[in-house]
Amino acid sequence: MYKLTWAVVLLTLYYTTTIRTTLARSTRYIVPGATWRDTDGEILSAHAGGVVQSNGTWYWFGQNERANITDTFSGINVYSSDDLTNWRYEGQALSPLNGTAIAPDLVVERPKVVYNEPADTWLWFHSDNSSYGLLKQGFATSPNVTGPYTFQGAITPLGGTSQDFGLFKDVDGVAYAMYSNGDAADAHDDLIVRLDANFTGPEELVYTFFDWDLEAPVMLRTEGRYYIVMSHKTGYRYNNVEVYSAETIGGPWSSGSYIAPAGTRTFNSQSTIFFTIKGSERTSYIYGGDLWNSEDLWDSRYIWLPAFPNDTTGGLTIEWHDLYTIDVTSGEFGYPEGTRYEAEHGVVSGDAAVVVQPNASGFKLATGLGNGSVSITGITGTGNPQWVSLHYHNHDALWGDNRGGNNITLARYATLSVNGLVHTEKLRQPSGSTGFVLTQTVNVTFERGGGNEIRLEGWNGTLAADLDAIVVYGDIYEDEN
Ligand code: GLA
Repeated sequence: MYKLTWAVVLLTLYYTTTIRTTLARSTRYIVPGATWRDTDGEILSAHAGGVVQSNGTWYWFGQNERANITDTFSGINVYSSDDLTNWRYEGQALSPLNGTAIAPDLVVERPKVVYNEPADTWLWFHSDNSSYGLLKQGFATSPNVTGPYTFQGAITPLGGTSQDFGLFKDVDGVAYAMYSNGDAADAHDDLIVRLDANFTGPEELVYTFFDWDLEAPVMLRTEGRYYIVMSHKTGYRYNNVEVYSAETIGGPWSSGSYIAPAGTRTFNSQSTIFFTIKGSERTSYIYGGDLWNSEDLWDSRYIWLPAFPNDTTGGLTIEWHDLYTIDVTSGEFGYPEGTRYEAEHGVVSGDAAVVVQPNASGFKLATGLGNGSVSITGITGTGNPQWVSLHYHNHDALWGDNRGGNNITLARYATLSVNGLVHTEKLRQPSGSTGFVLTQTVNVTFERGGGNEIRLEGWNGTLAADLDAIVVYGDIYEDEN
């Protein structure tokens, strides 16, 4: 009798765990700027990340940032994925250690990993104190790609200073570190440095972008060229990421260009990662950037977009899509269409008004969303979670690519209601430029059928961005019916 009960308990346990795992919902789209969740449903925290591929699986490493944590360093997380869309949390690759350069009150940023076949992975990062006065590089090792990694030390590379950090492993197995040598007047250079054969330290300076004064370097290699993208040094304020390219890593390197339309400041992102997808139909590239939120660092988002290096022009551009799919087998992107509802067809109240905007869809948008609101009705929903993109116009131009100006307003906020209930109290709408429509995408579950309403107004009486339109896309998860 007892035996039977235990068998039942064990079987039930087995089934609940297996069923839970198999029922973990698979998400269809990459959605730049939305809140991303891992396969357990937790907010995905891997900022200023790096990637390494092993046995067909991608491993994404990034800074852990969580609400209510005051430590400057709370760990490096690692996630794994076979499709670049669904990410499984593999735990902390590197955790803080008191009394070392990775103590919780110090800075460990921009983790980048190289895989040193067959047994060692090396994790390199920017190692500093909270006033960015040490300017070092740190490194840690593990025999397993997911760690845990063992901290090995922090160095001043080739006797110099190092700020921000990037790592690139070439097809011949040689690895290169990329970093700026600092903010001081005599240190405005960006360097490419070859690591030794075992990736245990820097060995040779390969190229100096003299006085370029850029940071956040990431490298991509196509058949014909090397591409390095770097941002300006404006802290967490978005700026125009630039690209340079060359036939050999030692140069000569091209003149620079922006990777995105200048008014978008790289669609409000800072460069950190490139994915190369070698498919059967084509090789595709994804640019990964951080959409920082300096007030709530944990709520920083990811801007991943299709990237198009061009070996003929030597330039590289990224292309905005509210959401998209990537088929890692064929290498093809897919761009699903949504249903668009124009704000000018909605009902405005209070101080809100519909005005002409030449770059808005339908050439009109709803403005004055402070003590006023716009309500759009007749929206068709599936009854399941769907992605809804709010196309907004926030013309609070930020400072340009120059340093400074960190205390200026980086975003407006709106209150978003769905069918009369508050959906997001404080929806963040990062600043743009006059005439540029940007997108914020949210997860909404409507009633099934055509009777849904979305209402947007200023958060807490403050002025929200103007609303151009909303676009309702298909179901977020694959297993819905
Ligand atoms: C820039 C750097 C980040 C971080 C922040 C801190 O964005 O690229 O790695 O150091 O500044 O302000």
